[in-house]
Amino acid sequence: MRVSSNRGLFPRALSMLGVVALLALALLSTPARAMGVVAFDYGTEWMKVSLVKPGLPFDVVLDRDSKRKIQSAVSFKKWGLEEEILFGTNAYNHATREPKQSFYGLKTLLGRTTADDDKPYVDLYASIFGNDVVSSDRGTCSLKRPFEADPKLSNLPVLSVEELVGMQLEYAKKLAEETAGERVNPSLPAGFNIGSFGGLDAVVTVPAFFTAQERQAIVDAAVLAGFRPRLVSDGAAAAVNYAQTRTFAQPEKHLFFDVGSGSVRATVVEFSTKPVVIDSILSAGKKEATIVDVKGVGWERNVGGLQLDLILRDKLVADFDAKHAAQIGGSIKTNLRAMARLLKEANRVKHILSANDAASSSVESLVDEIDFRTMIQRQDFEDAVAKAGLLPKFTTPIQQALAAAGIKLDELNSIVLVGGSTRVPLVQNALREAGIPDSKLAQNVNADEAAVMGAAFYGASFNPQFRMKEIRAYDLVPYAVNLKDADGHEEIIFPAASYETEHVVRQYSNVKDDFVFELEYDAAAQKALGVGTDRAISMVEISGIEESLKELKASGQLDQVDTQLNLTVVSRPLGTYSVENVVMVVKPKAGGIAGALKSFFGVATPKKASNATTTNSTATNTTSSDEAGKEEGADEDDETLSSVPAKDKIVKLTARTIPQNDAVRPMSGDEIKRSKDKLWTMGQAATRKAQREEARNAIESYLYRVRDLVEDSTFAAVAKDAERKAIASKTDELSAWLSDAGETADTATLKLKRASLESLIKPLETRVEQGKLRTAAFAAFETSLSEAREFVAEARANLTAALERNEASKYSVAELDTLSATLDKDAEWFAKGKALQDKKGANDDPALLSTDVDARRKKFSETIAKIKKRRIAKTRPQKKKPAAAAEADKKDAKDAKDAKSEAGDKKDEQPPRHEEL
Ligand SMILES: *[C@@H]1O[C@H](CO)[C@@H](O)[C@H](O)[C@H]1NC(C)=O
Ligand SMILES: *[C@@H]1O[C@H](CO)[C@@H](O)[C@H](O)[C@H]1NC(C)=O
Ligand SMILES: *[C@@H]1O[C@H](CO)[C@@H](O)[C@H](O)[C@H]1NC(C)=O
Ligand SMILES: *[C@@H]1O[C@H](CO)[C@@H](O)[C@H](O)[C@H]1NC(C)=O
Ligand SMILES: *[C@@H]1O[C@H](CO)[C@@H](O)[C@H](O)[C@H]1NC(C)=O
Repeated sequence: MRVSSNRGLFPRALSMLGVVALLALALLSTPARAMGVVAFDYGTEWMKVSLVKPGLPFDVVLDRDSKRKIQSAVSFKKWGLEEEILFGTNAYNHATREPKQSFYGLKTLLGRTTADDDKPYVDLYASIFGNDVVSSDRGTCSLKRPFEADPKLSNLPVLSVEELVGMQLEYAKKLAEETAGERVNPSLPAGFNIGSFGGLDAVVTVPAFFTAQERQAIVDAAVLAGFRPRLVSDGAAAAVNYAQTRTFAQPEKHLFFDVGSGSVRATVVEFSTKPVVIDSILSAGKKEATIVDVKGVGWERNVGGLQLDLILRDKLVADFDAKHAAQIGGSIKTNLRAMARLLKEANRVKHILSANDAASSSVESLVDEIDFRTMIQRQDFEDAVAKAGLLPKFTTPIQQALAAAGIKLDELNSIVLVGGSTRVPLVQNALREAGIPDSKLAQNVNADEAAVMGAAFYGASFNPQFRMKEIRAYDLVPYAVNLKDADGHEEIIFPAASYETEHVVRQYSNVKDDFVFELEYDAAAQKALGVGTDRAISMVEISGIEESLKELKASGQLDQVDTQLNLTVVSRPLGTYSVENVVMVVKPKAGGIAGALKSFFGVATPKKASNATTTNSTATNTTSSDEAGKEEGADEDDETLSSVPAKDKIVKLTARTIPQNDAVRPMSGDEIKRSKDKLWTMGQAATRKAQREEARNAIESYLYRVRDLVEDSTFAAVAKDAERKAIASKTDELSAWLSDAGETADTATLKLKRASLESLIKPLETRVEQGKLRTAAFAAFETSLSEAREFVAEARANLTAALERNEASKYSVAELDTLSATLDKDAEWFAKGKALQDKKGANDDPALLSTDVDARRKKFSETIAKIKKRRIAKTRPQKKKPAAAAEADKKDAKDAKDAKSEAGDKKDEQPPRHEEL
């Protein structure tokens, strides 16, 4: 079996970006296909989301409270057997009430198992809110929450990490849709595909150090949220963001230094300008592009903002225990709610210490009504961080990245600070201690948003519908990938360098048996992966070869054919690996074909041919069916050598990928569907619950409003005693009901209850309102009425005069009579109503509503305005007629066109008519 690889076959465009000139986002195709791209920077503590969509400003998506970043948290607020699902800040805050129903920092668990290797990650996670981490069917981490048994909901206490993250991404998707005012990824017709972007609708950033397994976990989460995501490393995304607004006449090297909540990353990137070949379905040619080439990365896991928070929390815990442990009979550590509050407080204290030498901390009623107060010195905090050995870890990634890129610090143009935690003084000190001169540090990107904005730009660049600045980013996975054949032959197919293509084609010659090969990280990657991390990625099984050749084997003719097999190893989403397009070509060797060969190559009856293989085989059908038909008769009886030229046979084969790492595998289609159904059911129930809550809150706030109203003097003046009493008793009744039966009442009942109080309040509101409007409305009516009457009288006079002179008039007798009658009726209606109203007190319902008075007034006023605007056709001026006649006479003499002319004149002389309006 001869093997060769080829990585240059696929158009470069597959792996690259042409990127948007921000102001020129233009959609070239139909709006129905105007897909948006949502980018996620899903961090340990914060999630940032951005949206690119034609017609919208390119910006981050705001949370419901208008914040530009969203806490990476999801929480379940229990209401008996029901629950509301909270996200963002609400979820984070709710953790202090129900820590075990709250999930935060889940990024640390993505792609992790409960096995020993992953214990540090699981322990770190469990130390946040004390969640119970259990193993899922797939060996990945799931979280178990305390749950009151309800048979209908019994599948819900355990949620996988992918599901919990997927819920958050789906929430963010809803926010993006609210921003876009429509769905961000409308479903496309089956098989619909525009070029290489293939319906891309989301880009998720990942730390470059994520393994295939971790990447797969976040891809699965995004799939659960309804996306087909691409991945990009956060360093490359920040670099794309950097390149958006800059040009590079000379190549420049920058290091992006990102201290996040969960890890520290350093990414060396070379920027340059080069002509590139444009190869999209919408345009072709050469163009200058900005090249973003990731040269090397370095990182430290489990170092970052969250670790600092946990260190501070533990200081608070120690202080509390020192003061109050005796009082509460043990450490506060066992009280999860208190621990959640202290973590929140630690985060607040950390921010204060960024700008101050000391911070006072105070948490009221932390436990057993104890108000906890303490002072934290920045020095003490920094000492604790140093003691934990964290300090050097903040900067080692810089040296690693430089080493990986093969360059020295002084070759860097700058170190660009990314990520919220780079602002912490401790981190800045660490940089200084590591010998990084301040002059190298650059704070010229938006530290919080660079990655998410760059990711959206990157995503949009795959969509030829967007016209963008041409940026091509070559991202990197720091672990080289080996393909190991069963015979031990090994070859690095994806080096630990920036990828120019995500596809590697492998050719196998003369394969006659099914075979397997392995994908694994190269031995040199072991150190980077961490000791104890299995290098195996997956085992790939290519099957269907033996099955499709079995007939030939049976007839002993296997050696009369040659085979060539191609397969493609694809790294998309970036850093995950799959095998596609496994195709085998079977050719007859020189000579002729006879016996089983004939049927194999479709030279025999189609019947036989179609049943020859059970795999999906597509014979080239250009002429073979015709030939088959022609040859059929002779062929059946005649087993002798045939000289009919046979077509090569193409057999499509299947590749089965079996993940090798601790039995963790991507979610299967079925599992995705089941999870989606589960999330949908939970979402629906939560929505119903939320609607009920909203209806309940509406009653509550209405009750407050009514209490205020009743106190109001204007309001008191319009209410009768009995009404006041009825309202008071209804208000009391409703308050009591609300805190009793109202707790469980359904939305419809809640709305009816509210209406029962509204029906008492509404009339009073009407009285107050009418009292304010009446005088003006009545006066306006009277004025308009007398003006209208004047108009009718004058119009009648003019009409009479016109009739007398036998002239045209704007008015007709009939319309003035009708108008006059209408005015009489309106006047009578108003007079009667006003008389009744005059007898009413302030606390009576009005006899005549100002809205009705206004409506009548407007109606007759509009009729009059319309008549006034009407114009009558002008009578032809006296002078013009002879002139026209003279003209006509002249023409008459010359052209004898008099008949026509006369007809024209006659028309002009017709009596003026009323113009219809
Ligand atoms: C296999 O790859 C070779 C080289 O790229 C190509 O010439 C050949 O057409 C491919 N065969 C199939 C069946 O795709
Ligand atoms: C193929 O074989 C199956 C039984 O294995 C038979 O039911 C079917 O009719 C065959 N098809 C053709 C096209 O001969
Ligand atoms: C053949 O292909 C069809 C559609 O692509 C698929 O549903 C079917 O399972 C395949 N059969 C085999 C034997 O691979
Ligand atoms: C044969 O190939 C043509 C296109 O080349 C296709 O339209 C047709 O459906 C094929 N027929 C069969 C029987 O596969
Ligand atoms: C009546 O005629 C007078 C004189 O032509 C004109 O000024 C006035 O506007 C007319 N009034 C109406 C209501 O048509």
